[in-house]
Amino acid sequence: MANGSDTTPASATGHDAAGVHDVFGPGRLGPVTLRNRVIKAATFEGVMPDGLVTDELIEYHRRVAAGGVGMSTVAYLAVSPEGRTDRHCIAVRDETLPGLRRLADAIHDEGAAVAGQLGHAGPVANGRSNRAPVLAPSKGFTPLGGRTHAITTDEMARVTGDFARTARSLVENGFDSVEIHLGHNYLLSAFLSPKLNRRDDAFGGSLENRARFPRQVASAVRDAVGDRAAVTVKLNMADGTRSGLWLDESIDVARMLESDGALDAIELTGGSSLANPMYLFRGEAPREEFAATLPPLVRAGFRLIGKRFLVEYPFEEAFFLPYARQFRAALDMPLILLGGINRLDTMRQAMREGFAFVAMARALLREPDLIDRMQKGGREESLCIHCNKCMPTIYSGTRCVLVNP
Ligand SMILES: Cc1cc2nc3c(=O)[nH]c(=O)nc-3n(C[C@H](O)[C@H](O)[C@H](O)COP(=O)(O)O)c2cc1C
Repeated sequence: MANGSDTTPASATGHDAAGVHDVFGPGRLGPVTLRNRVIKAATFEGVMPDGLVTDELIEYHRRVAAGGVGMSTVAYLAVSPEGRTDRHCIAVRDETLPGLRRLADAIHDEGAAVAGQLGHAGPVANGRSNRAPVLAPSKGFTPLGGRTHAITTDEMARVTGDFARTARSLVENGFDSVEIHLGHNYLLSAFLSPKLNRRDDAFGGSLENRARFPRQVASAVRDAVGDRAAVTVKLNMADGTRSGLWLDESIDVARMLESDGALDAIELTGGSSLANPMYLFRGEAPREEFAATLPPLVRAGFRLIGKRFLVEYPFEEAFFLPYARQFRAALDMPLILLGGINRLDTMRQAMREGFAFVAMARALLREPDLIDRMQKGGREESLCIHCNKCMPTIYSGTRCVLVNP
C-alpha cells in the first residue's frame, strides 16, 4: 500500500461531479492513499499469550483485508507495560516487532493499508494483572476496587516518549498509519474528562489545561513519524457519564487538535470503558456472557450491579451521526464517522455529509468480506444484529458468536 512516497493527486481520488467521495474509490489519509473509504475499526483482538503477535491475529486481519477494506486497524497496542489493559495485551517492545512486521506484510499482501491503535489504558488498566500502578489524572478507584495513582509530570513525559517511540517502531515495521486512543476514558481521554481529571496543575482545570497532555502526545507522535505515515486520533465526543466530557468541550478539543496541525484525521467515538461501555456500542447488553468471564466472587457482585454498569441503549443505524455532524460543521480537517454503520446507503450518506472515511467494527467481525460483497453489488446491509456477544469474547479470542460460537 502506498505510503509517504505516494503522490496521487487529490483530484484522482474518486469524487463525483459534486465533489462527493465514492465509498469504493481511493481516499487520501495524509501521506497514505487507501483503496477505498472504509476502515476496519479497532476491535481488541483478545488474548495474546506473552503479549506477542500470533498466527491467529495475523489471519484475523488478513481476512478483513482480503474482504475489501481500505485499511485494517490493529487494536490496542499499549505503549507502556502499565498501559496494558491486562498482562495479555500487546505492549510494543523489541520482541513484538517481527510479529507486527509479519502482520503488516500480510495486510499489505491483500491490498489494504494497516493502522496500529496506540494507547495507554490509564484508569482502565488492570493493575493487579499488570503488577503495576494504575495511572490516572487524579487519585481514585477503579471499577474493580483498585486504586489509581495520580500520574506525575515526569511520568507524563515518559509516557509521551513511549507513544513517540512506539509510533516510530510501528512505522519502521511497515505500518501506514497510527491511531492515538483519545477515547473511552483510557489515559488521554481521562485527562479530558472534567470528572476524572481533578488536577490543579497545568494539566487540569480549564479545558486548555486538560487538553495539554493529549495534544503534547499527538505532536510528539507526529514528530516521531514525520510524513512517513498518517497520524489520527480516536476522540471521545461524549463520555456518556454524568459530569464527563460532552460536545460543548470535545468540539473545542477537536478545534485545538486541528489548529496544532499534527493530525491527518479524527475518528469520532464516545463512551467510557470505566463507567458506561454500552454507550459506545448500543444494542443488547451481554450481561450474562460478561459475568461468565469474571472470577466467581466478582461475578456475584457483577450480577448485583450489572444493570447499572452495562446500561442498555437501543441500537440505531449510525448512532453517532447527530453528534459527529456538529464536528463536521465546526472543523475543516478530515473526519472519520464511526458507530453503528451497517448499510451501504449510510456509508454513502456519510460521504455526502463530508466525512472522509467510515470506520466499522462489529459488521466486519460478523462478515470480514462485507465490503467486497457490497462492492460487487450483492449486499446492501450487514448481517450483524448488535447482540454484542462479541464483546465478552475479547477474553477468549475476539469473534462473532454467530459465526464461531
Ligand atoms: C469486540 C470489540 C472490541 C473492541 N475493542 C476496541 C479497542 O480495542 N479499541 C477501541 O478503540 N475500540 C474498540 N472497540 C470499539 C469499536 O472500535 C467501535 O468503536 C464500536 O464497536 C462501534 O462501532 P461499530 O458500531 O461499527 O461496531 C471494540 C468493539 C468490539 C465489538
